[in-house]
Amino acid sequence: MPRASLNTLLPGLGLLPLLGAACAPKTADHSIRLGEFDALTGDTATFGQTTHEGIELAVEQINASGGVKGRPLKLFTEDDEGKPDQAALVAEKLITQDRVRVLIGEVASSDSLAVAPIAQRYGVPMISPSSTNPKVTQQGDYIFRVCFIDSFQGQVAAKFARDTLKCRRAAVLRDERSDYSLGLADVFSRDFKALGGTIVADKAYMGGDVDFKAQLAAIRAAHPDVVYVPGYYGEVGLIARQARALGITVPLLGGDGWESEELFKIGGAALEGCYFTNHCAPDSPDPVVRRFVATYEARWHHEPGALAMLGYDAVRVAADALKRAPNLDGNSIREALAATRDFPGVTGRISMDADRNAIKSAVILEIKGGRAVYKETVNP
Ligand code: PHE
Repeated sequence: MPRASLNTLLPGLGLLPLLGAACAPKTADHSIRLGEFDALTGDTATFGQTTHEGIELAVEQINASGGVKGRPLKLFTEDDEGKPDQAALVAEKLITQDRVRVLIGEVASSDSLAVAPIAQRYGVPMISPSSTNPKVTQQGDYIFRVCFIDSFQGQVAAKFARDTLKCRRAAVLRDERSDYSLGLADVFSRDFKALGGTIVADKAYMGGDVDFKAQLAAIRAAHPDVVYVPGYYGEVGLIARQARALGITVPLLGGDGWESEELFKIGGAALEGCYFTNHCAPDSPDPVVRRFVATYEARWHHEPGALAMLGYDAVRVAADALKRAPNLDGNSIREALAATRDFPGVTGRISMDADRNAIKSAVILEIKGGRAVYKETVNP
């Protein structure tokens, strides 16, 4: 309806700005809004920065090929600094002010856990690209993820330590501030013991700490033949250096939280011969991965990591659901997401199970020559 006729119909009611937005399909923004919340600054800044590149690339490609339902996607990005409180704040803003249809985020499980109840309350579907703690999707039926969960990741690490590295005595060093780290440490310990191993030390630190010598000295005294460190790259890099300085020579083993170029800058040579589990390997020979890496490098001029690939997949899974949804209300989108089967992602085929988790394989990476090199794939 043209503005002039509204003015004649509703003189002096002051409703024009509101109605103008709702009733002017020709000139109004008819894009479908996606909200991204990520740590673009702070202790885990590379998590958000690389995820963002994958997300943006996916949005650009989808829009270049005509968008969704003939409408372009419009991305709203918020920096949550990797802090749960901040994540809750910006997610609420994305929902209430920017009126996004789908939320994409977070990487760190503690941040996703802070946002999930909010997304659930507003009925806005949320897709975490990479939060692996099982509790994330248990927050409600609007919460999805395109990655595996830590009950699997921890089991893969325990099996690798026992069967491949032939370790009998493991020490654990966990980040008490991180739901991710605590969950993964528990699964690893349980499965390592179930496989006949012994946990000889279990120590803790707080994300943000810089001195780990007391914990490492206790670990050294317990004579482990592997140290499991399910933390994030900033602390892990320092832990590796301090462990070597204290004379701990056994391999450190970790999870996807090690994924960052910064890890190698911080940890340097101390990381040689260490291993971590991850979602995918950019150096994989898989033709799907090779094609994606080439496209990504053309766009961003550097190699993608697992996070970029998961961010990319999260947006494409969202777009696929938006296409299939009969309309764009939260419940329709939620149902379409839940029905995702065999979606061809760059991180593998994605099917949502009954708990809205993707069932996917994991890879083991070995640190060699200052980089993470693909070693093997483990299927669920
Ligand atoms: N899985 C981690 C978590 O849940 C986040 C992460 C994923 C970090 C992938 C790096 C790479 O907290």
